[in-house]
Amino acid sequence: MNSDLRIEKHPILEFKRGKRISFQFEGKQIEAYENESIAAALFASGVKVLSRSKRLNKPKGWFCGIGKCCSCMMRVDGIPNVRTCVVPVREGMQVERQGQLAELPSHSEIHVEREEMDVRVLIIGGGPAGLGAGITAGKLGLDTVIIDENFNPGGQLIKQTHKFFGSKEEYAGLRGFEIAEIMYRDLKETGGTYLKETSVVGYYGLKEDGRHSVITYRRKQDGYTLIEISAKYIVVTTGAFENYLAFPGNYLPGVYGAGGVQTLMNVYGVKPGSKALIVGAGNIGLIVGYQLIQAGVEVEALIDVLPKIGGYLVHASKLKRLGVPIYTNHTILTAKGEESVEGAVIVQIDENMKPIEGTEKEFDVDLILISVGLSASNKFLSQAGCENMYVKEMGGWIPIHNDNMKTTVEGIYLAGDAGGIAEASTAMLEGKLAGAAIAEEEGSDSNQIEIVRKTVCAELSGIRKSDFLKNVGKGKNKCHHKWEEVKQI
Ligand SMILES: Cc1cc2nc3c(=O)[nH]c(=O)nc-3n(C[C@H](O)[C@H](O)[C@H](O)COP(=O)(O)OP(=O)(O)OC[C@H]3O[C@@H](n4cnc5c(N)ncnc54)[C@H](O)[C@@H]3O)c2cc1C
Ligand code: FES
Repeated sequence: MNSDLRIEKHPILEFKRGKRISFQFEGKQIEAYENESIAAALFASGVKVLSRSKRLNKPKGWFCGIGKCCSCMMRVDGIPNVRTCVVPVREGMQVERQGQLAELPSHSEIHVEREEMDVRVLIIGGGPAGLGAGITAGKLGLDTVIIDENFNPGGQLIKQTHKFFGSKEEYAGLRGFEIAEIMYRDLKETGGTYLKETSVVGYYGLKEDGRHSVITYRRKQDGYTLIEISAKYIVVTTGAFENYLAFPGNYLPGVYGAGGVQTLMNVYGVKPGSKALIVGAGNIGLIVGYQLIQAGVEVEALIDVLPKIGGYLVHASKLKRLGVPIYTNHTILTAKGEESVEGAVIVQIDENMKPIEGTEKEFDVDLILISVGLSASNKFLSQAGCENMYVKEMGGWIPIHNDNMKTTVEGIYLAGDAGGIAEASTAMLEGKLAGAAIAEEEGSDSNQIEIVRKTVCAELSGIRKSDFLKNVGKGKNKCHHKWEEVKQI
């Protein structure tokens, strides 16, 4: 193996790596394991620069790790613009950086096939919300098809190593990645279909028979299969993406999203750096800070612009006990380095958020982890004509929906982070509500539907009593009222 950043010993995780394989990266042979993404395998071998910016030719690397940015786009087996963080390595694959402008392949180089598919319930996104919707609709007698662009089912659950709270229904006591496996198995048992490595391109309107038309593509080794899906109902569960911060050097490999770092460490067992600075003291920043230490990374400091730590004090205390300083009222001034991060400068800010001269501190780090919140991934819903509203408590603009997760467009539902930022148990429960509402429209057994609805609503209202989710409950109420208003016009 070349330089190998794979973690061999971890206090709570055991990495079950697949068969050893090798692939070609710009003429060099790279050793990898089956079930690793191309970008993770390159990172593990010391390749941090995956692409270059179009105008300024600046280096770019891993950032989100879940297919939601463009930092990792490379040419794979002749096909440009492949998001290598969500595509698995395969024996003999040819991978290269594509330069500032990706050259298009000729028609003879790629093979595009076409397929049509007619489904009753199409679910876009196979995280906890999508799986929750699929399992419930399946148990209530409906055929469902989930499509997801990643090759690992379970959305963000696969990188969550903490044990879940709540009731048995919410898989209390199990870790996120274990829940992903159970939900995937449950979906299969209800007869649901799960198409991996399949991306939704867009919404293509209503057909003459009143069905929604959606275009998707499925990756193959030598091209794509374009699938035109005709669906009576759609549940959009596409999750969220990480917010970014503007500062000099923010493009450098080494500046990564918190979720991207979790994916590298917890899913692929790859050490993301040696010394880290964390920007953002909410729960995700604090949790990932602790996970970095478990993975053998030194956390030099954690900073936040706010005067108080936003996440739970229990998580902050854990870090403080391990000697990690937390600087509130501080921001990042710059990331240093040419081809990757070699340091970072932070500065104290005044009550107007302006840097206070003379308070700069420099850190010798190769990893800057950005954890400054999430925004809902809901472009598909906007394209389909769903009306939006701004709800501060839910992370910004969200599609208006009612308490059955129905949007303002007939036949289109949503669940999970796509409808406003919350957490994984909420996503699962909302998915179940959407599945039950569609089953009701389709005339499934009303007693069973009522049982699902009652249990789920009780659990949701229980969760939303916690300090952490109180605001989510408020935001949801605003949204549900708005739906009633819009529907009365
Ligand atoms: C980066 C990140 C890190 C997080 N870390 C934590 C944590 O440490 N602890 C915690 O409690 N919570 C965490 N959360 C929150 C929690 O995981 C989410 O609230 C929960 O996973 C939301 O579930 P979901 O099903 O709505 O979305 P997700 O779990 O994000 O699933 C969405 C799925 O949709 C798929 N998808 C998106 N667009 C398309 C498309 N166009 N075509 C096909 N498929 C598509 C994605 O591949 C993904 O599998 C995190 C969330 C994010 C985004
Ligand atoms: S899309 Fe791959 S790192 Fe963001």
